[in-house]
Amino acid sequence: MKLCIINGPNLNLLGTRETNIYGDSSFDDYLINLKNTYSNIEIDYFQSNIEGEIIDKIQKVGFSFDGIVLNAAAYTHTSIGIADAVKAINTPVIEVHISNVTNRAQYRHNSYIAPNCIGVILGFGMESYRLAIDNFVNSPKN
Ligand code: DQA
Repeated sequence: MKLCIINGPNLNLLGTRETNIYGDSSFDDYLINLKNTYSNIEIDYFQSNIEGEIIDKIQKVGFSFDGIVLNAAAYTHTSIGIADAVKAINTPVIEVHISNVTNRAQYRHNSYIAPNCIGVILGFGMESYRLAIDNFVNSPKN
């Protein structure tokens, strides 16, 4: 099984960015744990602060991988381009968020991407990523 985690803007700063909301672990550290936990599958990781690069990556993996875990960060709430890319591919996508965006500012409540995903996981901290991977690994419907 081949899964890809795609992180959007400012998630390269996890561990130092607004630690009261996002925690104090860097994504690289979390990824080491994740790869150890799921050593039987391939987990590819990509982060970009640039919308077009995220779209390119979705297109690149979206016809051959078994699943994409996508935290488009702020682009979640603005990007029709990323939403269209998710709709255009065959690979199922789970949208994740570290924070519970529904109890934050109103402008974080809308996701253009969610309607094109098989599901959304939010508010579980970094564990949101593991829950998404667990779903791809253990849920035959995907
Ligand atoms: C986020 C929530 C977004 O609203 C925000 O812009 C982020 C991170 C999250 O994981 O909680 O950068 O996607």
